[in-house]
Amino acid sequence: MKILVTGGLGYIGSHTVVELQSEGFEVVIIDDLSNASEKVLDGIEAITHKRPIFEKLDLKSKIGVTDFFKRHKDIGGVIHFAAYKAVGESVNNPLMYYENNINSLVYLLQEMAQLDKKNFIFSSSCTVYGQADKLPITEDAPVKPAESPYGNTKQIGEEIIRDTCRVDQDFKSIALRYFNPIGAHPSAEIGELPIGVPQNLVPYITQTAIGIREQLSVFGNDYPTPDGTCIRDYIHVVDLAKAHVVALNRLLGNKNEANFEVFNLGTGKGSSVLEAIKSFEKVSGTKLNYKIVGRREGDVTAAYAETTKANTILGWKTKSSLDDAMASAWRWEQRIRK
Ligand code: WQD
Repeated sequence: MKILVTGGLGYIGSHTVVELQSEGFEVVIIDDLSNASEKVLDGIEAITHKRPIFEKLDLKSKIGVTDFFKRHKDIGGVIHFAAYKAVGESVNNPLMYYENNINSLVYLLQEMAQLDKKNFIFSSSCTVYGQADKLPITEDAPVKPAESPYGNTKQIGEEIIRDTCRVDQDFKSIALRYFNPIGAHPSAEIGELPIGVPQNLVPYITQTAIGIREQLSVFGNDYPTPDGTCIRDYIHVVDLAKAHVVALNRLLGNKNEANFEVFNLGTGKGSSVLEAIKSFEKVSGTKLNYKIVGRREGDVTAAYAETTKANTILGWKTKSSLDDAMASAWRWEQRIRK
């Protein structure tokens, strides 16, 4: 069966393409290359020995989306990653985020409705919870006012899909709320490729360790946590990618209990920034140069997943530890800087 993966040359998208191909799916990637390189196709092929079909396409073009589906009539499901995802950038440029992340979703859903296509996996984020009142976070935790336009596009995206499912009982969708994806494929053929200065912790750690960055700034150690630094649920990107195949098979096999379902994807374990640094130092055998600075605006104190629903209903759980993920991130950083 042919599966469309939008944003399939991106970080999580490319790892999901590898897992889909390993399960025997034929994959078509749409990517506008705004935040990814076509070279990622070589990495995917090096792992699976199958080169996915790739089409450069901006999903903000409604005609482009219609034309794509005319040429690929046999798409059996869609996994939608394509979106802008830099929290800080979204604050400074909200309309760019709403136009890109919302319009592309609407055009995709309109085309799928037009062509009676049924199965849609949506890349969502734990950012929809904001600072949850209770930890660990369950899927029925209240969705809080978004801390950024980026987070708002995820909340709005889920509502758009929920409303679509309400009006079309045959349309089936699963929203996957990621916690903090980190690491890289064990082969080091694909991984995270942040453009410019990394916003996220782990690529900043590995770039500091390899000498591209002078020093890591730890954003605050005065939070109400055991060591004062923020707590997150760091999930290996390969575990995350595998969850997408499980979710897709759930829809293809009509195993879903409702036609719109939401699952938290995390390890269920919270780790502080200092614990993440310690894990990196252990697996890399290097001492990381970092300093404590002031808090970063918009950071929540703690967020980690309650994983029972994903484990029991979706039938998926993480296999890799924080150390495994950190080691894979380090292997990848060393590989690309050779
Ligand atoms: C993690 C922790 C920082 C960088 C964001 C998005 C989320 C998802 C993942 C897209 C925090 C601290 C970070 C640094 C630091 N993105 N940190 N120094 O903010 O939890 O989540 O990225 O889907 O939706 O919100 O991830 O890696 O930026 O930060 O101290 O140089 O590391 O303060 O406590 P975050 P992060």
